[in-house]
Amino acid sequence: MPIILLAIESSCDETSAAIIVDGSIKSNIIYTQKIHEQYGGVVPESASRLHIKHIIPVVEEAFKQSGVSKHNLSAVAYTQSPGLIGSLLVGASFAKSFAQSLNIPVIAVNHMQAHVLSNMIDNSTFQFPFLCLTVSGGHTQIVVCKSPLVMEVIGETIDDAAGEAFDKAAKMLQLPYPGGPLIDKYAKEGNPKAFAFAQPNIADLNFSFSGLKTSILYFLQKEVKVNPDFISENLADLCASIQHTIIQILMKKLVKAVKQTGIRQVGIAGGVSANSGLRQALEDYGRKNHWVTHIPAFQYCTDNAGMIAMVGHYKYLQGEFASLEETASARAAF
Ligand code: KG4
Ligand code: ZN
Repeated sequence: MPIILLAIESSCDETSAAIIVDGSIKSNIIYTQKIHEQYGGVVPESASRLHIKHIIPVVEEAFKQSGVSKHNLSAVAYTQSPGLIGSLLVGASFAKSFAQSLNIPVIAVNHMQAHVLSNMIDNSTFQFPFLCLTVSGGHTQIVVCKSPLVMEVIGETIDDAAGEAFDKAAKMLQLPYPGGPLIDKYAKEGNPKAFAFAQPNIADLNFSFSGLKTSILYFLQKEVKVNPDFISENLADLCASIQHTIIQILMKKLVKAVKQTGIRQVGIAGGVSANSGLRQALEDYGRKNHWVTHIPAFQYCTDNAGMIAMVGHYKYLQGEFASLEETASARAAF
């Protein structure tokens, strides 16, 4: 009997459903909530309401595209933590009731573990042990991954996440939320060495982005006083320089982690792994230093249920099912 799972992701502002058959993703439907753009960040109450509105059509589309019938499902996997509690509860409640109606088990998945395993999707060269830099809107972590479900965080941010640094810098440049993809877009036309910004000086494998944020803010305030059009006149160079600084901060720690662990299978994951500059930096550095690098396809970088399905598959193989009493949790270590 094949292992067929429905996976649900609803931890933030993406409603997503995927179908996986024997470890191979057959559909991965993602609905991105655009409403938050006008508020400069995710509004939790609106996010929960939009998940309620979209979860059934998204799941129906995932079944349709995969050609799988709900009667052939082995289990339902859902994002249990971390994330916005109201948003998580929509996915958890849907997954549990859907599974109960079909009399099949549920599998609770950690969203951050799932980002790491997105590197395994459609990737025949993937091997363990694997070192992953997970960079999203809420987290920045370096993870040692020994097997699909055995992971250890060896470095993380002590303040803002890398995605947050992109989004907050973009806001200072008067760009809408989420600004990360826009900085990436404008950076392509700019000079990454045009402006220099502060970099943290932390000895271990942890990250910090608050100093960079302050450095950008003070720099812009000073320049705008002299020339009110400074931002619009220098947008591409500002984006390229900010992106370059964030990538340098990230790569410096990743290089240190490779030296410390000796692991040369190296990848990136999370929303910021969609950044073209970071993807290029990893590929270039990896090639020169004989690393085997992995980068997820774009649809598996930002939040998606395909990655939840991947963790679900391995938990199914180990018989790691969740009880119906288990519920969503905003915070969780793994
Ligand atoms: O993983 P994700 O979709 O959601 C969380 O779990 O947080 O990550 C979202 C983050 C946002 O901060 C967004 O600005 C950033 O990923 N992001 C990017 C790019 N695409 C998404 N940052 C830089 N360049 C991109 N191309
Ligand atoms: Zn995420």
